[in-house]
Amino acid sequence: MDVVHKFLNIAVPPFTILSLFLCLPSLYCFKLVLFFLRALFIEDMNGKVVLITGASSGIGEQLAYQYAKKGAFLALVARREKSLQEVGERARELGSPDVVVIRADVAKADECKRFVEQAVEHFGKLNHLVNNAGMASVCMFEEATDITKFTPVMASKAALISFYETLRIEFGSDVKRTIATPGVVGLNRGCPKGNFCPKKARCW
Ligand SMILES: NC(=O)c1ccc[n+]([C@@H]2O[C@H](COP(=O)([O-])OP(=O)(O)OC[C@H]3O[C@@H](n4cnc5c(N)ncnc54)[C@H](OP(=O)(O)O)[C@@H]3O)[C@@H](O)[C@H]2O)c1
Repeated sequence: MDVVHKFLNIAVPPFTILSLFLCLPSLYCFKLVLFFLRALFIEDMNGKVVLITGASSGIGEQLAYQYAKKGAFLALVARREKSLQEVGERARELGSPDVVVIRADVAKADECKRFVEQAVEHFGKLNHLVNNAGMASVCMFEEATDITKFTPVMASKAALISFYETLRIEFGSDVKRTIATPGVVGLNRGCPKGNFCPKKARCW
């Protein structure tokens, strides 16, 4: 065993250093090429339609401003309409050609369907979906005797995703990307343990 340790002590350090010398330059070259390719083929957001849930504050709000600066049309969704209007105003100032504000609750399946429909009705298409607002329902596994209790939450995401897929089929490459910010904005703490977060669903 001692012989093996001695051998490893002698052989491993130079081998590691040699590997680093060989691998690092190729890794950095690869990163450099990737950087230039990304810069060359960056998507032109001018005139694209982006729907953002949870756009009245936080990450959703900042994403709205970033998309606005790139000239995208925006459909902003959240429950606080006044805050949404303010975000919409600022987004217009930053360069968005048109912003539609939709008051809706992502925990309700019918409302998810409605705001996607409203956005498509208003702009005639949907290019990006930023699935930022999420709901989670927490309870003990043994207490979850009635699976239908989760239905509104699951259905909201299912409706959104399936509707999104429908759009993808309907509009083809015009429906491109979904960004999801895995996490929770609403917690149903009716029960103490276990976690269910349908928001983590993601489509590209
Ligand atoms: N901040 C972080 O470091 C971080 C890191 C990883 C992931 N995340 C996740 O990213 C998401 C956004 O985070 P954040 O920090 O920006 O949160 P935030 O500042 O609390 O914003 C949450 C947004 O979601 C909206 N919202 C909440 N419940 C809603 C509902 N039922 N229906 C429609 N809209 C709803 C809120 O607007 P209204 O109240 O007007 O509805 C608000 O605009 C969250 O899911 C979070 O878990 C955050």
